[in-house]
Amino acid sequence: VTVGGLTFQLSLNSSAFVGELNITRSDFPSDFMFGVGTSAAQIEGSSKEGGRGPSIWDHYVEKNPGKIQNSNKFSAAIDSYKRYKEDIKILKDLGVNSYRFSISWSRILPNGSLSGGINQEGIDHYNSMIDELTRNGIEPFVTLLHFDLPQALEEKYGGYLNRTFVNDFKDYSELCFKTFGDRVKNWFTINEPNIPAVFGYELGIAPPGRCSFPKPFCVFGLPPPEGPCFVSAGPCTSGGNSSTEPYIAAHNLILAHASAAKLYREKYQAQQKGEIGVVLVSEYYVPYSESPEDIAATARQFDFQLGWFLEPFVYGDYPKSMKELVKERLPTFSAQEKIMIKGSLDFVGINYYKSLYVKNKQPSSTETPRYSLEIAAENIEVDKNGFSLGLDHGHWPEGLEKLMLYIKQKYQNPKIYISENGAPEQRNDNVSLAARTNDPYRISFLVRHLYRLHKAIKSGVNIKGYFYWTLFDDFEWGMGLHERYGLYYIDFNDNFKRIPNLSAKWFQAFLKSNQTQA
Ligand code: NOJ
Repeated sequence: VTVGGLTFQLSLNSSAFVGELNITRSDFPSDFMFGVGTSAAQIEGSSKEGGRGPSIWDHYVEKNPGKIQNSNKFSAAIDSYKRYKEDIKILKDLGVNSYRFSISWSRILPNGSLSGGINQEGIDHYNSMIDELTRNGIEPFVTLLHFDLPQALEEKYGGYLNRTFVNDFKDYSELCFKTFGDRVKNWFTINEPNIPAVFGYELGIAPPGRCSFPKPFCVFGLPPPEGPCFVSAGPCTSGGNSSTEPYIAAHNLILAHASAAKLYREKYQAQQKGEIGVVLVSEYYVPYSESPEDIAATARQFDFQLGWFLEPFVYGDYPKSMKELVKERLPTFSAQEKIMIKGSLDFVGINYYKSLYVKNKQPSSTETPRYSLEIAAENIEVDKNGFSLGLDHGHWPEGLEKLMLYIKQKYQNPKIYISENGAPEQRNDNVSLAARTNDPYRISFLVRHLYRLHKAIKSGVNIKGYFYWTLFDDFEWGMGLHERYGLYYIDFNDNFKRIPNLSAKWFQAFLKSNQTQA
C-alpha cells in the first residue's frame, strides 16, 4: 500500500482487502480526533519520586511478583515522567491532533484524599505537560483513573468496596477540573470499570487480588500441556467474595463517575466549555449458532459487560438480565441516584480489541455463583467449523463496525470516541532490531479497523475520534513486558530508547497525507 509517497508491504495477500486499503485521512472529517493513548502507571515510572504516593498496582506488583509475567517490575515503567518533553516531540512528529493520557491520582494526592495534602510537584508536572501539549497543538484527553487507585485508600477503607471512595474520587476530580480545566476540554473519568471489578474482586488477578473460589484455572494463555498459561487465577486464599464484591466495586465506580460528572456540569462546564465521559470496553459478540439459546446468551454477554455500565449511564439502571440473574446480590440505586446517573455522559469512550463467539452454558448447580458464571455463557474463539473470527487473537475489524451499530441502536446514538484499539505482539528479543520493529500485521490491523470505522460513520454512528492503543510498548499489567502494543518499540535493554516501528511510519504517513492508493 502506498501512502504519502511511501510504500508499505502489508501482511495481507488477499485481493479481498483491496477496498479496505483505499482508506485515507480525508475520508474522515477534518476535525476528527486522531490520537494515541497511554496511561500513567504504564509509562511514567518514577513511582517513588516527585512526592508520589504508591498506587494499588505498585503495591500488588511488589507483593505478588509471581502474578506478573516474568515477574516484571514496573517502578521505572518506560521513564515517561522524566521524558515527557521528548515524548511530546514524538507525538508532534507522528502528526496526531490529540493525545489520551491519564493523571496518576497518587502523584497529586499521595494519600488519596484532599485531607492528606496536595503534592505541588505532581500538579506542576501535569501543568507543564498540558502546556507542552497545547503549545504543540495537541488536544489533551485526560483519564482521571486508569486502574491506579492510591494504595492509601485501599488500606484506609478497602478502596472501591467502600462508598467513601465515591467522595474521594469526586474531590480528586474537582481538583483536576479546577487546576487543569482551563486547558483540558475532554475528561474521561474512569477507564474500563469492569476490569478492577472483575479482575480485582472476582478472579483476583489484579489488585486488590480478592476472590473466593477454590480451584485454580488459566485466564490468559492455555493451560498445560497445551500451554503456556500467562495468567492464572486461584486458588483463592486471601479473602474476598467473588459472588458479591465485583458488583459492589462496579456499583461504587458507577456512582463515582456520576458524582464527578454532576459536579463538573454544575460548577465547571459552563465556564470551561468541556465535556465529560467514561471509558468502557466491549468485545463484539457473535452467537455460536442460530439457536435461540446461543442468541440469548449473546445478549446476556453484552449486558454483563457493556450494559452493566452503559445501561445505568443512559437509562439510569442496570440491565434487566442482570437484575434477574444476580438478584439480591446486585446493589440497587436509590431514586435520587438514578436521576444522577442517567444521562451522565457527554460522550462514551469505547475500547474495542476483539470479537468472540458466545455459546449458552448451563450454570452448574454445585459451583458458587460468581460474575463470570452468572452470565451462563461461554466465550470461544472458534466456531464449530474451526472458523475464527479474527485475523488472529480474535481481531475482527468488522466487529468494530457492528459494535458501533449495536451501540447506536441500543443506547440512543451517543457521541463516541474509540478510546482504544490496538494489536499486541508477543515479545521476542532473539531477533534483530530491524525484525523487531517490522510490524506489517499492525499496519493491516490499523488499515482494516479504520476502514470499518469509516463505514460506521457513514451509517450514522456519531464517532468523533480514534485513539490507537498505544504510543509505546509499556507495562501491560499482568502480562508485564511480554505484550507489546506500541507504535514505537521500546528497547528495555538500552535505556528505554523509543524506536519507531514500521506501523508508526505508516500512521504518520496516513495522518499527513490525504491520498492512499492500493
Ligand atoms: C485496556 C487498558 O485500558 C490498557 O491499560 C491496556 O494496556 C490495554 N487494554 C491492552 O490490554
